[in-house]
Amino acid sequence: MVMHMRHGRDLGGGAPAGKVQDDGAFGPLSRAGAPSYGWAMLQPSPAFMMTTRPRAVARWLFAVAGLIVAMVVVGGITRLTNSGLSITEWKPITGIIPPLTEAQWQAEFANYKRIPEYWTVNRDMTLAGFKAIFFWEYLHRVLGRVIGLAFALPLIWFWARKAIPAGYKPRLLALLALGGLQGAIGWWMVASGLVERTDVSHIRLAVHLLTALFILAGIVWTALDLMALYRNRLAAPARLTRLGAGAIVALFVQLLFGALTAGLDAGYAFSSWPLMGDAWFPAGTPMMTPAIANVFDNPVVVQFIHRWFAFVAAGLLVWAAARAIGHGALRAGWLVILLVVVQIGLGIATLLSGVQIDIAVAHQANAALLLIAATAAAHRLGRGHGRIANSIMVS
Ligand code: HEM
Repeated sequence: MVMHMRHGRDLGGGAPAGKVQDDGAFGPLSRAGAPSYGWAMLQPSPAFMMTTRPRAVARWLFAVAGLIVAMVVVGGITRLTNSGLSITEWKPITGIIPPLTEAQWQAEFANYKRIPEYWTVNRDMTLAGFKAIFFWEYLHRVLGRVIGLAFALPLIWFWARKAIPAGYKPRLLALLALGGLQGAIGWWMVASGLVERTDVSHIRLAVHLLTALFILAGIVWTALDLMALYRNRLAAPARLTRLGAGAIVALFVQLLFGALTAGLDAGYAFSSWPLMGDAWFPAGTPMMTPAIANVFDNPVVVQFIHRWFAFVAAGLLVWAAARAIGHGALRAGWLVILLVVVQIGLGIATLLSGVQIDIAVAHQANAALLLIAATAAAHRLGRGHGRIANSIMVS
């Protein structure tokens, strides 16, 4: 039976000690000071209490999030070392086995020699050079499979043991489906660089990176909901507040233009800051028609947007972070502020260095960490002060 509670009544930090035995699956049950009516009726069913393990599920999700950050870093290295087109086939199962014999390496190299990138850019490449670029793409794909398994197998296990709290299964399944889709998007991106072009479509690269980061944010948000549920078994999933949504959307817009900057090699266009060459916006920049095409396809415009929209995104992020600090999320809030400053510094350094690989990779890795911190801050805003479920399951 589903119990509906009155909206807005704040029991956080204050109801009498719960009578249901804490079997360790949940956090402390004490809630001194809450009105006594209703509390007894709010006890989740014993079966629910016995089996669901929100903290264990949350910890698993945090571990998967860590793997995704590693994946983003390896993806960045793969792109920056121009390794992404070295494997010209998509074999989700058998592709786990790399070439082992000299003949297999030669066959793999022969496949690479068929694509335009080889004969226009890498004609002088030796087998040793090919093995080096193969390494990063292979590692990226292996890590993709590891993440798939690290998500799917524990999901099955937690599911079978009835450890997943009510309402979370559809979300976890949606994240699993998005992960599978991400593999397909990765191949869709690689395929765009195998026939006519010597690199992948920057739009597909942006879709690939943004899907990865969306999954990362979704996993972290879900894990935080579960941790809140562990601490307070009546906690409702957080809502996305207007400020939280604004900050996250602005961050995603900035991530989109970062991906487009990277995909168009627009970072090499002007290695100066704050001016682009000797102007805020270089006069005589060739423009495309229709005008909207410049926003996505013109390297100069894309770099211009990325370098300046950063401050819009940063403003919203700092605003949300300050509000989150006010709500008690000191760690997440201060981390957002720190990481956003570091991110802008790394962006400028990436430009000034002429896209030096280690700096560009740090810029990409820090973007993923910033997203995690921003997700945590937005999550805190959406939880309010001890808001509780207005609808919980009781037997
Ligand atoms: C909140 C601020 C920022 C965020 C979240 C952000 C995020 C990103 C992301 C996700 C990428 C794609 C990396 C890749 O695919 O390898 C990127 C690329 C880039 N960003 Fe930013 N960025 C920010 C600020 C800046 C600033 C202020 C600058 C310079 C003034 C900048 C310069 C660049 C450059 C040059 C690239 C291309 C690097 C490459 O080719 O790998 N970014 N950014």
